[in-house]
Amino acid sequence: MLPAQLLAARWKAGPRLPVQACSMASKAAPIDEHQVSYLGAEQAAKSRVPAYSPSQSVGHRWPRQQWGVMDSWLARHLHHFGYKLQVCYPKQTDKPLYHGLVTQLQGAPKPPFDKILDMLKPGAHPPIIASVDCPSGWHVDNGDESGDGLRPDMLISLTAPKNGARHFDGKFHYVGGRFVPPSIQEKYGLQLPKYPGAAMAVKIGSNAAPKQNGKLDVASIRDTYEDGSQGLSEADADADPLKQFDKWFQEAVKANIYKEPNQMAIASSDAEGNPSVRMVLLKGYDERGFVFYSNYDSRKGKELSNGKAALCMYWEPFQRSVRIEGSCERVPPEESTAYFHSRPRGSQLGALVSKQSTVLQNGRQELEDRKKQLEQEYADESKEIPRPEHWGGYLVRPKSIEFWHGRPSRLHDRLQYMQENGKWTRQRLSP
Ligand SMILES: Cc1cc2nc3c(=O)[nH]c(=O)nc-3n(C[C@H](O)[C@H](O)[C@H](O)COP(=O)(O)O)c2cc1C
Repeated sequence: MLPAQLLAARWKAGPRLPVQACSMASKAAPIDEHQVSYLGAEQAAKSRVPAYSPSQSVGHRWPRQQWGVMDSWLARHLHHFGYKLQVCYPKQTDKPLYHGLVTQLQGAPKPPFDKILDMLKPGAHPPIIASVDCPSGWHVDNGDESGDGLRPDMLISLTAPKNGARHFDGKFHYVGGRFVPPSIQEKYGLQLPKYPGAAMAVKIGSNAAPKQNGKLDVASIRDTYEDGSQGLSEADADADPLKQFDKWFQEAVKANIYKEPNQMAIASSDAEGNPSVRMVLLKGYDERGFVFYSNYDSRKGKELSNGKAALCMYWEPFQRSVRIEGSCERVPPEESTAYFHSRPRGSQLGALVSKQSTVLQNGRQELEDRKKQLEQEYADESKEIPRPEHWGGYLVRPKSIEFWHGRPSRLHDRLQYMQENGKWTRQRLSP
């Protein structure tokens, strides 16, 4: 990546420069202009608000990488939009470093950025690239006209995607800058995505689906697992797999990578050994093992009565997976009851409504009718909804836990822990 730069810029709308941005008849330019002139806040401070969006987008996709936010991204972007930028920090001095940084906003890229940009170009095996709004070398409306522009892995559009974003075929397209005042939203008819929580940026998909002769080329969908270069070493991994799990799980939760980083697949098998697998939510883990809740009469409920289960989780942005195999038993009824009553009332009713895994002879209406009937029965919120006996928790006590970490060239890390006589031993498996 380019070294992190800190440039605070003051700008004013000057006459449009004869650069590609001038051809922007698209709606995006006036929106941007409006956005940056909104409220009387300090301009430099305003430039920082949208700068959070790129950092959040990058942090969301590559949570473990130490990327700096480059305020100069924004400055460059404004420069290409025809603003006259006055760089006030760092001060223009004769020192080569500062001089080099400041003059990036004037004319063609200068050393060392000309070389760095070359290294990022297609065919040069570039590292991961995140571009803001308009990748370097692209026409802001028409995309990479010259074929010589950067091919970013991630495009972060601020406020609204520029026309050129239609030509983006990288994997991750984010839109950022949630603080768009309602007046601007109305004026430009902006349909902004739903930003979760305090997020400044949100993934809006990408055009990444690779095609061959107009058909989706499934075989060519792949990741290089380059971000996993740190991997998982014996020295880093805790000798206790439950502690190691806690570490990875907490990291996945903290990074806010998904709404439910506790999603996991649970496999079971029937009396003939036929396997089946489905997703559930991990609802707790401690020194005993891993807990989830379900319907004891469901297909999985019946199959798990053989006392065996396997779990699998994958946190894709971290390129980490955990596999667990072990015995499976019901948690004590008091534990199930306590959890049942901690759930929202609607979910409690859902457990009563659904005879999980059975066929609905009369379609969805059957469910809706049952729900309505129970809602009436429990309309009085002070009336406790009893936990049905067929609903409760399962505890998977692990006999083996494997930690998988993606690494380049498919040479992934696999550390498998196995329990023997109450002690954990560990071995490294081939990827
Ligand atoms: C993300 C996700 C989380 C789920 N969590 C649960 C859960 O915690 N418990 C559950 O019984 N079913 C859960 N389900 C539904 C199951 O995947 C499955 O449809 C259901 O348990 C019936 O499976 P079975 O017929 O094999 O028993 C979840 C599904 C998804 C996609």
